[in-house]
Amino acid sequence: MSVLNNRPSIDDHAPRLERLFSLNPSELSYPIEEITGEVPDFLGGTYYLNGPARFARAGLQYRHWLDGDGMVCALRFERGHVGFTNRFVRSHKFVAEETAGHPLFRTFGTAFEADQLKRGMALESPVNVSVYPYGRRLLAFGEQGLPWALDPLTLETRGVFTFGARLNEISPFAAHPKVDPATGELFNFGVAFSATQPMLHVYRCGAHAQLRYRKRLRLDYPCSVHDFSLSPRYAVFYLSPYVLDMQVLIQEGRTLLEALRWEPERGIQLRLVWRDSGEEAATIPIGQRYCLHLINCFEADHRLMVDVIEYDRPLYDQYQVVPDLFTAVSAGQPVRFVVDMKRHEVLARWELDYRLAPDFPSIDRGESHNRTVMSGCSASRRPAAVDGSSSINWCMQTGKKRPPATCIRHRRGNTLEANRSSSVIRVIRKQGRSCVRSSMRRT
Ligand SMILES: [Fe+2]
Repeated sequence: MSVLNNRPSIDDHAPRLERLFSLNPSELSYPIEEITGEVPDFLGGTYYLNGPARFARAGLQYRHWLDGDGMVCALRFERGHVGFTNRFVRSHKFVAEETAGHPLFRTFGTAFEADQLKRGMALESPVNVSVYPYGRRLLAFGEQGLPWALDPLTLETRGVFTFGARLNEISPFAAHPKVDPATGELFNFGVAFSATQPMLHVYRCGAHAQLRYRKRLRLDYPCSVHDFSLSPRYAVFYLSPYVLDMQVLIQEGRTLLEALRWEPERGIQLRLVWRDSGEEAATIPIGQRYCLHLINCFEADHRLMVDVIEYDRPLYDQYQVVPDLFTAVSAGQPVRFVVDMKRHEVLARWELDYRLAPDFPSIDRGESHNRTVMSGCSASRRPAAVDGSSSINWCMQTGKKRPPATCIRHRRGNTLEANRSSSVIRVIRKQGRSCVRSSMRRT
């Protein structure tokens, strides 16, 4: 427990967080034998996790959290037994650098002499952000490119996934797609960062990977967009003016992080897209803040509720220098926008009275839309020096915290949360991985 600046005490679920930044991690597969606590008997299935894992190669040490090569982990539960497997994603970047024996490609926050860009204008993705099941497939995603298919059991890389050759290596494709559990459809987006004609590409793919539509919607500025949300009728985008200057990115020695500029005076927009057609429904100005991850959106009483975490400014500069992260992270605030679905106007903006630094929000789709779980950001090597590492379980509607759930702590630092009245299990913290947003449904 820690008390900081008279803030409330919070649980630190990730002590010694800096240990996660291994410079050269191993690929392993083993049964987990030391478990503190009790594995619930209802727990069965596999939890998958992706994140940056290799932070150095041939003497070059990456600076930024998002630079590392993607490694997927599988935590498999079966009749009280737990097994663990991890493997790197054999992306184009990983294979080429393994073959060369040294780094070849510029990364998000690290540039070096004679580094390369993909087609001279983009990063070669380390495929290090997320992993999602899609039908019987397992797909690993990077920030800006097609996903990679993995063997769900062994995690061996099968190859880049092109949705039946309807998409290709220059198709912008983001790292947090949404799969409708009712239909199996996958929705996603990507940003084309043209200075003169920036576009938001919106995709809808069927359960069998057939591309149902791809729409190109005009953006007012070429902004970084990392996430979106789905309601029954809408795809919802929070467009913050975190603008990518391609002319900076293509310069020698400049990183993508350096090419991003925060220009709040441009104003932010809530972009509503019709989910059935991919056409724009509305663009609504909503202020001057920043959002990295949306929490959720849903519809009730002819109103669209859009739940997000807002910050005063972007966070990516706080993801460095590895392993010292979040040394001065700005406060984040869970916010709900209530939108009239007929007039497409914001009727209300609700804030939770919370000014720490949560991120990676998740909801329990088996429960109320009003429940959300978030993880806190921490300064490594200093226990909760800024905001603490915490799991925060809130009711968005009342602002009240939920009762604590059952926690299982794995000896290597994973923490699972399982609520017996819930239909999902969440990993609150996983050593060495970021963007923890997946959930595992009970079987
Ligand atoms: Fe993310």
